[in-house]
Amino acid sequence: MKITVVGAGAVGASCAEYIAIKNFASEVVLLDIKEGYAEGKAMDLMQTASLNGFDTTITGTTGDYSKTADSDIAVITLGIPRKPGMTREELIGINAGIVKTVASSLLEHSPNVILIVVSNPMDTMTYLVHKSTNLPKNKIIGMGGALDSARFKYRLAEALDAPISDIDGMVIGGHSDTGMVPLASQAARNSVKVSEFLTEDRLKQVVEDTKVGGATLTKLLGTSAWYAPGAAVSSLAQAIACDQRKMFPCSTLLDGEYGLSDICIGVPVLLGKNGIESIVDIPLSDTEKAKMQESAVGVRNTNGLLDV
Ligand code: LAC
Repeated sequence: MKITVVGAGAVGASCAEYIAIKNFASEVVLLDIKEGYAEGKAMDLMQTASLNGFDTTITGTTGDYSKTADSDIAVITLGIPRKPGMTREELIGINAGIVKTVASSLLEHSPNVILIVVSNPMDTMTYLVHKSTNLPKNKIIGMGGALDSARFKYRLAEALDAPISDIDGMVIGGHSDTGMVPLASQAARNSVKVSEFLTEDRLKQVVEDTKVGGATLTKLLGTSAWYAPGAAVSSLAQAIACDQRKMFPCSTLLDGEYGLSDICIGVPVLLGKNGIESIVDIPLSDTEKAKMQESAVGVRNTNGLLDV
């Protein structure tokens, strides 16, 4: 199992680190455009191998896509990250050009690769990869919902004063401050709906804190978060590499599912050896359905800024 991670910044390096620590890939290639940077990150990470007990080989390259040849999975993190006060949507101009070039360079050397798109605005970048490549739709996966769901569970555990392993919850919709749809009415602590334990106001607060999860961190860190994004990517890659058929909300091209077409947006999918094995149709309340449609309007507006 060979996995390429394009972008050796904080998110890319975190992806490589978690993939290695989880020990399911034989090889990780880190690629960056900044001279020597990916090589340096790869060497630093490899020097943790004996300490952290992994056998994955991590190598780095400055822009040489031939080193990524025959990758099974490639993660696109390259692009500029958010600064405090910026929305993910404001990154579109620069990141669209970068993501398009990266996707075509990857495919030149790995025609059968499964792509995981992380660069923001993620749903629109995932759509752009569909429009600019001929890859079948099961092979293009946008990473957003897995991260947003992890943040939702963190906020739920905090509100419930419970261990996170007790919590189950999912966030669908667009990966944006206004577009996320945390499924609060369905979230549970060991099968008991969280609404049994939390007041309506507290649950509303959890939802709001979840939606601005990335922005809160950007404000604290001065740039975009990396540990949870890296961990989320590694979980998606592991589900594919190990053919787990695990359910995650991911951004995928819809063709009528959830009443939407010609758009990439977060919905529950099963991830296995073919990438997206299927889209899972879950029942939504009328409010959640309306929020999903609203979220789609926001994603379409951003898609409208693309030159495709
Ligand atoms: C975040 C970025 C990865 O939400 O979109 O932290």
